[in-house]
Amino acid sequence: MPITQDAISTALDISWIRSQFPSFAEKVNGYPAAYLDGPGGTQVPQRVIAAISDYLKHSNANTNGAYATSHRTNETIAGARAAMADLLGCESDEVVFGFNMTSLTFAMSRAIGRALRAGDEIVLTLLDHDANFSPWNALEESGVTIRRVAVNKADCTLDMSDLEQKINSHTKLLAVGYASNAVGTINDVKEVVRLAHSVGALAYIDAVHYAPHGPIDVRALDCDFLVCSSYKFFGPHMGVLYGNREHLKRLHPYKVRANTDESPYCWEWGTLNHEGIAGTTACVEYIADIGRKVKPSSDTRRGAILAAYDEIVKYERALCERLIHGLRDFRGLKVYGITDPQRFHGRCPTIALRIDGHAPLQLATKLGKRGLFTWDGNYYALNLTEQLDVEKDGGFLRIGLFHYNTVEEVDRLLGALKEMVGR
Ligand SMILES: Cc1ncc(COP(=O)(O)O)c(C=O)c1O
Repeated sequence: MPITQDAISTALDISWIRSQFPSFAEKVNGYPAAYLDGPGGTQVPQRVIAAISDYLKHSNANTNGAYATSHRTNETIAGARAAMADLLGCESDEVVFGFNMTSLTFAMSRAIGRALRAGDEIVLTLLDHDANFSPWNALEESGVTIRRVAVNKADCTLDMSDLEQKINSHTKLLAVGYASNAVGTINDVKEVVRLAHSVGALAYIDAVHYAPHGPIDVRALDCDFLVCSSYKFFGPHMGVLYGNREHLKRLHPYKVRANTDESPYCWEWGTLNHEGIAGTTACVEYIADIGRKVKPSSDTRRGAILAAYDEIVKYERALCERLIHGLRDFRGLKVYGITDPQRFHGRCPTIALRIDGHAPLQLATKLGKRGLFTWDGNYYALNLTEQLDVEKDGGFLRIGLFHYNTVEEVDRLLGALKEMVGR
């Protein structure tokens, strides 16, 4: 099907971008697959698939051995640490690889939690994915007081005045999402970090949802920790944690004795997913190549990554505007989160909606049969769906737009919804 991009002007080469992803050739019942399910995991470019398979063909070994494939494995991991450092704006020795964000957060919360005492406090939010909630909330068992920040229900933003009130001299850590995986809200993370530091608390940022949508600069944010998952930014199923070097050295991980005490290796449990790590470098290179195409003068990988995000942000915002505008006069339809285009800088193009009389699962199933892949449910943003009282009847239908989606896909979705529910 032709890609009719004329409605949106962009410096991104959408044809080149689309050509990178072999899965875009998939069809369902004769319809081309439209991947609007990216918040649950994005598609991967061919170079990621090739990097995973090349690693397994040519370098497959455990680390620190006295032979060629083991040396290559060490180099593969070092290369991926450097790539992730460029993506996050930190140094290589501040990058920790893990199974996924959830397991990294459980590990880090145990390590931080072992130094906390009864009476210490942790601040969490009701907007966050449960993976940045439950691991910390469980520290209540050891006498830590958990304070939970409310959400402004009208636009699904964080209630910053509630957050300020929940912080005090006992606060030891604030765990906050960069962006909501359910309703797309981007939080003022820099301000959250500032508030945390004003009382001497640590700031732990969940950037899983934000990472494919916008540039991350951990130094500018001044956060202590930031976690993301490469399968959400065009890579393999893995988690990556940034930890400020001083904290990674100072804190004590739970670890096996035989593992080194040297950071960041001491934070990594068991044998890593080496082929996934090889794929992670490739997905960072993919983002950098987008930047090199839009700004050929980019002379560092970090510079190219930032150039890529400049255009990704603009293009995704235009797609988001088109979708939200197109949804405006559906009868009985409610979009959750920020809907005023003037405020779209405060949201990702992740749209949660409900339509009267149509359960989210029914809608997702019908759309799926037309090759339009969307999610239904709570996506583990359980506190939010409970707050908004949608948990009891199916959560939301979630449409996730990414830089690889097209105007034509947005219009196809609108057309399908119109046929299914009328206007
Ligand atoms: C915002 C957010 N945080 C955390 C997670 C959990 O990530 P992982 O699957 O890597 O544990 C997800 C997954 O959907 C997410 O969207």
